[in-house]
Amino acid sequence: MNKRLAPTITIDGPSGSGKGTIAQKVAKALGWHLLDSGALYRLVALAARNHGVPLENEESLQILAQNMDVQFLVEDPEQPPRVVLEGDTVTRDIRAEDVGRDASAVAALPSVRAGLLQRQHDFRQEPGLVADGRDMGTVVFPDAQLKLFLTASVEERAQRRFKQLQDKGMSANLADLQAALQLRDEQDMTRPVAPLVPAEDAIVIDSTDMTIDEVYTELMNHARNQGLVS
Ligand code: DC
Repeated sequence: MNKRLAPTITIDGPSGSGKGTIAQKVAKALGWHLLDSGALYRLVALAARNHGVPLENEESLQILAQNMDVQFLVEDPEQPPRVVLEGDTVTRDIRAEDVGRDASAVAALPSVRAGLLQRQHDFRQEPGLVADGRDMGTVVFPDAQLKLFLTASVEERAQRRFKQLQDKGMSANLADLQAALQLRDEQDMTRPVAPLVPAEDAIVIDSTDMTIDEVYTELMNHARNQGLVS
């Protein structure tokens, strides 16, 4: 007998497109589970560093991807979940630029992606899942009920990141941020496995000139049209 799979909304797109913020807002509004798949790649990168595993050692990286002990604890629905790796809170550590760079490298390895697949499927539970990443609609949840692909110009995404860092009291250089984003996009879009591309049946939204609330409203309208929200 076929088990009914929980309804799923996927939100894919490049770094800084706002997908994480939107995914969190939608999951909270619907009372659904949230999968931040980028965090999983960041966790593999951090676990590799903690265990002294070189980023070329694909076999050990796959073992880490499959076996690392990770928890996402939703303590305050207004905030992203607390991320715990092998007993340590690493919510902030995984957001560091160098961890992001390493994450992009491990994400290009097919065995790491395969190693994380089951973990990602496990998030699909009732009453539903909002999953954000790069290949949620194409590879991980190809049968999702609603697929969104969120883009924005690289200039706008760099600006957003710059402002985020400033708000956190961290210093940053706009030109460097833009160059790093461009490089990350290039890596993510041209890799042979699960490259960053919209699913054929994805709704593409360019958020360059939109606020988070405008994107949210548009997504919720689509969700209503699909019968996912009353
Ligand atoms: O969204 P993020 O910046 O946290 O993602 C970190 C890296 O992981 C990024 O370089 C792309 C990669 N990634 C991926 O390959 N597939 C996903 N589903 C999510 C992220």
